[in-house]
Amino acid sequence: MKVSVIGTGYVGLVTGACLAEIGHQVMCTDSDASKIQTLEAGGVPIYEPGLDKVIAKARKENRLRFCANPADAVPAGDAIFICVGTPPLPNGDADLSAIDHVARMVASEATSPKLVIEKSTVPARTGHELKRALSVYARRPGVALHVVSNPEFLREGTAVEDFLHPDRVVVGVEDETAERQMYEIYRPVLERKFTCPVHAGKCPDGPAAQWLVTTINSAELIKHASNSFLALKVSYANMVADLAEKLGADIGEVTRAMGMDPRIGPSFLSAGLGFGGFCLPKDLQAFVRLAERCGVDFSMLKAAEKVNKQRIDRFVEKLREALWVLRGKPVAVLGLAFKPNTDDVRFAPAIDLIRRLVEEGVRVRAYDPQAMDKARTILPEIEYADSATEAVKGCEAVIIATEWPEFRSLDWEKVRGTMMRPLVLDARNLLSPGEMRALGFEYRSFGRPDPVAELEMA
Ligand SMILES: NC(=O)c1ccc[n+]([C@@H]2O[C@H](COP(=O)([O-])OP(=O)(O)OC[C@H]3O[C@@H](n4cnc5c(N)ncnc54)[C@H](O)[C@@H]3O)[C@@H](O)[C@H]2O)c1
Repeated sequence: MKVSVIGTGYVGLVTGACLAEIGHQVMCTDSDASKIQTLEAGGVPIYEPGLDKVIAKARKENRLRFCANPADAVPAGDAIFICVGTPPLPNGDADLSAIDHVARMVASEATSPKLVIEKSTVPARTGHELKRALSVYARRPGVALHVVSNPEFLREGTAVEDFLHPDRVVVGVEDETAERQMYEIYRPVLERKFTCPVHAGKCPDGPAAQWLVTTINSAELIKHASNSFLALKVSYANMVADLAEKLGADIGEVTRAMGMDPRIGPSFLSAGLGFGGFCLPKDLQAFVRLAERCGVDFSMLKAAEKVNKQRIDRFVEKLREALWVLRGKPVAVLGLAFKPNTDDVRFAPAIDLIRRLVEEGVRVRAYDPQAMDKARTILPEIEYADSATEAVKGCEAVIIATEWPEFRSLDWEKVRGTMMRPLVLDARNLLSPGEMRALGFEYRSFGRPDPVAELEMA
């Protein structure tokens, strides 16, 4: 099928590249001309494992193209995926102005029937507004424009694999024709009829993706309800971690056992600095706002958000307990991205933490394997190091703010020798407390027994 993708950020680029990989003819566009320039020159504006190869192959085989003028993408596709950003407004509502902009453009440029697919995360009832906008701005009233909601569940860091091996594909439709067309788009994924670039054609056995056809409102609600639930889970685990810390229990032992219960599941139970990124924080806020507008008291979500915001305070207190005076002290922060295997620093807890440390007068030196360029644009005031070992030299403390595997495998013994004081504050519970203490570190983390703190309490 001929497909256009409007918005070539994390979701749009993965969507466009993967749809081309499974055999569709794809045209991608973005209002940010620099992204299209980079892509046309053979670069990839984001770091996402495996994506560069998928893009290069699809371009070589002439299934993936880019155009700088979004209006040119409309005639190029029978199905148009809207993948533009829906960032939070100051009051927490999702800013739908980019969706509105695209709706006007599609309505005025379409000369043949189109499937207009919301892939961006939007509050329930956006589909109805989209439909209205498409009909209000349509220049050729006879041309049918069908709205579909197709929420995306990919995770940055494993996005290509997630897109090609989803647990479920949710499509919110209004009629069977739209449903059939959506099935055609996803047929290779649903029936596993493609050569998988992630597993070199030898995909592990696993259940096939579930095909779920719903109303548009339900599809939109599914996405917000899912992300908000994940946010609740993270905040819940963080509160249990605080309790475990007071009681001398180990949060790792507790959540491991909890996660073995299939009713709970093991994911999103890691204690630490809390959730971040371009999805959970803003989707939670938008969901709260949606509930408020509907007169539904969803204050448990507000509590989850409050717990998440307090993680930074809790952590700064830990640092203060360890260092006493913060002002003027050199501290290394390892990790800037909101999670490992991405360069995305949007709403990253590490960035919020550094801002707080800078306010407190800490001299921060940071390192991240992939996110340094993006971090430099939003945090120019700190020092950046070329490697983790460079970052820690002469520091009074090391903070692990993102759980990149390379920080686990650092030569910590060597690190200790280069620090002014061997103090590690592990905000992601990445390292083993026993091993770190055996290496001579003062080591603090979240929700795990701390002999020093216990002595102080005794
Ligand atoms: N990032 C994720 O992991 C993820 C996962 C699932 C869903 N989502 C949702 O997908 C949507 C996109 O997220 P993202 O992370 O890809 O954001 P992004 O900011 O990386 O990408 C959005 C892109 O849209 C472009 N854009 C904005 N207005 C435009 C317009 N009028 N015409 C053409 N292009 C325009 C921007 O320049 C940008 O490149 C959001 O609604 C998000 O909530 C994101």
